[in-house]
Amino acid sequence: MSDLEKLQPSTNTNSLNRLEIEIAGIKFQNPVLTASGTFGYGLDFADLIDLNRLGGFCSKGLSPKPMKGNPPPRIVETHGGMLNAIGLQNIGAKAFVTDTLPQLKKYNTKVIANVFGYSLEEYIEAIEILNDGDGISAYELNISCPNVKQGGIVIGNSPDAAAEVTTAVKQVAKRPVIVKLSPNVTSIKELALAVEGAGADALSLINTLVGMSIDVYSRRPRIANVTGGLSGPAVKPVAVRMVYEVAQVVKIPIIGIGGIANWMDAVEFFIAGACAIQIGTANYYDPCVSIKIIDGLLSYCESQKLSHISEIFNSLKK
Ligand SMILES: Cc1cc2nc3c(=O)[nH]c(=O)nc-3n(C[C@H](O)[C@H](O)[C@H](O)COP(=O)(O)O)c2cc1C
Repeated sequence: MSDLEKLQPSTNTNSLNRLEIEIAGIKFQNPVLTASGTFGYGLDFADLIDLNRLGGFCSKGLSPKPMKGNPPPRIVETHGGMLNAIGLQNIGAKAFVTDTLPQLKKYNTKVIANVFGYSLEEYIEAIEILNDGDGISAYELNISCPNVKQGGIVIGNSPDAAAEVTTAVKQVAKRPVIVKLSPNVTSIKELALAVEGAGADALSLINTLVGMSIDVYSRRPRIANVTGGLSGPAVKPVAVRMVYEVAQVVKIPIIGIGGIANWMDAVEFFIAGACAIQIGTANYYDPCVSIKIIDGLLSYCESQKLSHISEIFNSLKK
């Protein structure tokens, strides 16, 4: 029997509070969230899983105006992962506020609005629209987009630019701000410290790694955009390392993301220093994965005699 099979979901409802956590003043019923871009706007999954059981979910990245995204092909499978270049297609912040949020009201799960812009002004514009939205618990800033105002430098690569966006957003945001870090940097610690210094309430990491895949017969890139973002189990060791490095230097909470496909993956991130996790690519091949992970974590707490999951946060033994 594998380690995964050994655990059975807990039937003891009192044990559920073993998973309750608080990040930036927001109470989550458990630390299992779904990652931006892999869970639509939540409603798409309502017929597949019980949304009320999730700790929360992050919306697809929202910009002030709707965006069409890149031409296809824009997703390809790779060993242990996938490459995507969706191009930040989205319905726009206004439609999210007026059409989506009212429909989400009946679900008991936290909604985190993932936000991006191509300039500082666009980030602020999106946040100002979302500030009017009813039922958003926090914002998650995707700072991995090309910043046209800085001659093509990606904001997420520059500690100064990342801090500048964070400061500007914090000035207008009516909700806590989670800054989502890009792994495509020399030192993730520098970025983390810069946005913490700029007032970020929490961090989430990692976003996708820049990758490329080539068809050997046509000699063409397998996605139209040539390069794309690598995600899935292939990126997990990089993500765990980055969460560990960042946890050594910041005081704000860390949400771990990257290749999580089962409860043991989640536990690795907790030991490395995360206090919540997000599940991305795994949602594509198993829409129930997050629920299975919640059940797995409850059983893990029971089997390890943990009164609360936080007992393993940042607990790496060397
Ligand atoms: C198809 C796709 C679309 C994504 N769109 C976004 C997005 O709009 N905003 C964002 O911050 N991250 C986006 N991501 C990144 C994921 O939220 C996540 O950080 C990344 O995929 C790593 O986690 P995973 O390995 O569990 O997928 C996207 C990922 C995928 C696969």
